[in-house]
Amino acid sequence: EREREREREREFGVSMESPFKADILKGKVALLTGGGSGIGYEISTQLGKHGASIAIMGRRKNVLDSAVSALRSLGIQAIGLEGDVRNRDDAVRVLESTIKHFGKLDILVNAAAGNFLVPAEDLSPNGFRTVIDIDSVGTFTMCHEALKYLKRGGPGQDSSRGGIIINISATLHYTATWYQIHVSAAKAAVDSITRSLALEWGTDYDIRVNGIAPGPIEDTAGVSKLAPDDMLKEMEQNVPLYKMGEKWDIAMAALYLVSDAGKYINGTTLVVDGGLWLSRPRH
Ligand code: HXC
Repeated sequence: EREREREREREFGVSMESPFKADILKGKVALLTGGGSGIGYEISTQLGKHGASIAIMGRRKNVLDSAVSALRSLGIQAIGLEGDVRNRDDAVRVLESTIKHFGKLDILVNAAAGNFLVPAEDLSPNGFRTVIDIDSVGTFTMCHEALKYLKRGGPGQDSSRGGIIINISATLHYTATWYQIHVSAAKAAVDSITRSLALEWGTDYDIRVNGIAPGPIEDTAGVSKLAPDDMLKEMEQNVPLYKMGEKWDIAMAALYLVSDAGKYINGTTLVVDGGLWLSRPRH
């Protein structure tokens, strides 16, 4: 069993033991959009390894199937639900299926995202809209449709505590990032959604809403699609102590935020980038 787990860890790049106790999410149910690949899959794995049951939502059936079987082979209760966050009916159906299967929802992680590199002058308004639809509107739609399950006193919920939302963001929009006008705008909206919902739903329903803004994370579509090798080399030369993050780093931040250790954290977006976004070239 242990050997199989090690093999899985190697195959899926899960690198290190967690410093958190294995039962901190025992009995919890989490739904992750984009939870079948990349950073989303690593968060699925770590939430599952710490006791949560996992529902993953994604567009690609083959990706969902292999993620679910990998999670199950680690002893994690997992289901895959096909759907596109741009489609409100899909959101409703996926949430209903999650409740039908696991009885409740405690944690929603919005990790689905769309991206490509393109100069602003070559980006069509529809290309801009597509990324806003996935990242910003998709995040809002999932939160909106999940509210009745996450709120204090919702189905299967404690009457004194509500659920938790995590929105995966980025640091692109803290400054300005070349060829990323669409994603920068989309993630700026995501951060704003995080704050507005933290205010309204934290107050009314005891739901905590936070974000995580990853820097460049190795073995992800974000890096392979967005940062060609020459860009990475340049970064290494210019940024003191430059190193890429691991998916594990993002998953540990998610665990912290969803665990009771994060019970007073609401409306923040935690930057997990090794200090990269604020650094300047040495002179
Ligand atoms: C210019 C492009 C383009 C490109 C698509 N478009 N790709 N424009 N350059 N490379 C334009 C199209 O021309 C079209 O506009 C519009 O966008 C919609 O394109 P479709 O192909 O129809 O969209 P769709 O099939 O729905 O695919 C969505 C997608 C795709 C976002 C374009 O890349 C995708 O599904 N990606 C999901 C997976 C992904 O990228 N994950 C990475 C996340 S990493 P017109 O005008 O022609 O109709 C990440 C990291 C962020 O988010 C932060 C990093 C630090």
